[in-house]
Amino acid sequence: MKDASSSHQTGQRDSFGSSFGVLVALAGSAVGLGNLWRFPYLVGENGGAAFIIIYLGFVCLLGIPVLLSEFIIGRRSQANARGAFLHLAPGSRWTITGTIAVICCTLLLSFYSVVGGWGVEYFIRAVCFDFTRGGEAALSEMFSTFTVSPWKPLVCHTVFLLATALIVISGIQNGIEKFSKIMMPLLFVIMIGLAIRSLTLPGAQAGIDYLFKPDWSEVSTGTFLAALGQAFFSLSLGSGMVITYGSYVSKKANITRLGIETAVADTLFALIAGCAIMPAVFAFGISPGEGPGLVFITLPHIFSNLPLGGVIAIFFFLALLLAALTSSISVLEVVVAFCMEEFHMKRKTAVLIVFSVIWALGCLCSLSLGILDHWKVFGKTIFDLFDYLTANVLMLIGGLLVVVFVGWKLGRKVIHDELTNGGKLHIPAAFIDTYAFLVRFVAPAALLTIMLFQYLS
Ligand code: ALA
Repeated sequence: MKDASSSHQTGQRDSFGSSFGVLVALAGSAVGLGNLWRFPYLVGENGGAAFIIIYLGFVCLLGIPVLLSEFIIGRRSQANARGAFLHLAPGSRWTITGTIAVICCTLLLSFYSVVGGWGVEYFIRAVCFDFTRGGEAALSEMFSTFTVSPWKPLVCHTVFLLATALIVISGIQNGIEKFSKIMMPLLFVIMIGLAIRSLTLPGAQAGIDYLFKPDWSEVSTGTFLAALGQAFFSLSLGSGMVITYGSYVSKKANITRLGIETAVADTLFALIAGCAIMPAVFAFGISPGEGPGLVFITLPHIFSNLPLGGVIAIFFFLALLLAALTSSISVLEVVVAFCMEEFHMKRKTAVLIVFSVIWALGCLCSLSLGILDHWKVFGKTIFDLFDYLTANVLMLIGGLLVVVFVGWKLGRKVIHDELTNGGKLHIPAAFIDTYAFLVRFVAPAALLTIMLFQYLS
């Protein structure tokens, strides 16, 4: 393994080329299946508006502080998720935080790519106007037959992961930044169009009420855990993604603004996705609590009953695919940057090796929904286990270590230095004080309490 500073000193590191490029790449990393697939079904399972309010609270209180902390670590060290800790705290055990991030991204992309593969399949079906051939029961059957099939989801997972790998192989400016610059604005336009269509359906008001009028009687401790896990998943926290992308950000950039803009963009996309989905669900008198199948069963059913629904379906699944890809590239980049810098690999070699490992794990995830569904760990299939381990365990532990590291190990001087670019930017002292207080006391205490609650109950 190379030493702390050598990756830093090579001067060969790729970087983002423009501030718009940085923002869309960061927003692209955050906006993904978490917003279009996970957020709507969690809202539906956890009672609507009350879940959203708790989620927003977590984004402000914990999400933004963790995001800024990862930015500080990445930008200051200019190194990969593990190398960053080698550089900032040489000879200490803090590197474990980076190791957790690399493991987390490996597991995350394994099941993420399977769901991305479902997106590939459903996009093709939408293009073939396949959803018009039956009611909800037939669509539910279509989804379960597809996901338990031993080969088709594997082919789709392979296609999705290959597309991810091809973008990452082209590097930061030519691959990730270029792709995000085109796809993120397109995604935004498609989602706004879908939301307008859904909000103007007759009977949409019930869905709007569900999204914006809280019913606190639905809230339980499970709601808090689901909202926190979702905030971390959606903002790509505790998994080294922001550290890695942050390491490609120029020393002149205003990371406070970038961090806040990323969180706002991600939350906005989640709310737009909610507005694109829930009013339509209610307008058709369907239960919102359909779980993970919401996007793949309920929505195609709605599309099949809407005027011009076939065309809307094409746009929706295109949006899902684009969002998934701009996120999956950031997940893959964490592991690829780690291999390149810690093991002196060329980008191509690193992508090939990481692709192979994640592809194999992804196949296991996919098969665990069908022929391997009897393989259970802690009562969960491999697919569910990877989802739970990443969003509810590794990201939270990673986030906790990150805030403690920045709050207590790096300390206030480094925080001030990074947020103000060595005094060149004017960031209000009250903001820096509040941020420092949150990362030193509030975030660690809240994360610890929630995790203990979760694991001991
Ligand atoms: N943040 C990414 C998403 O929401 C992982 O899909």
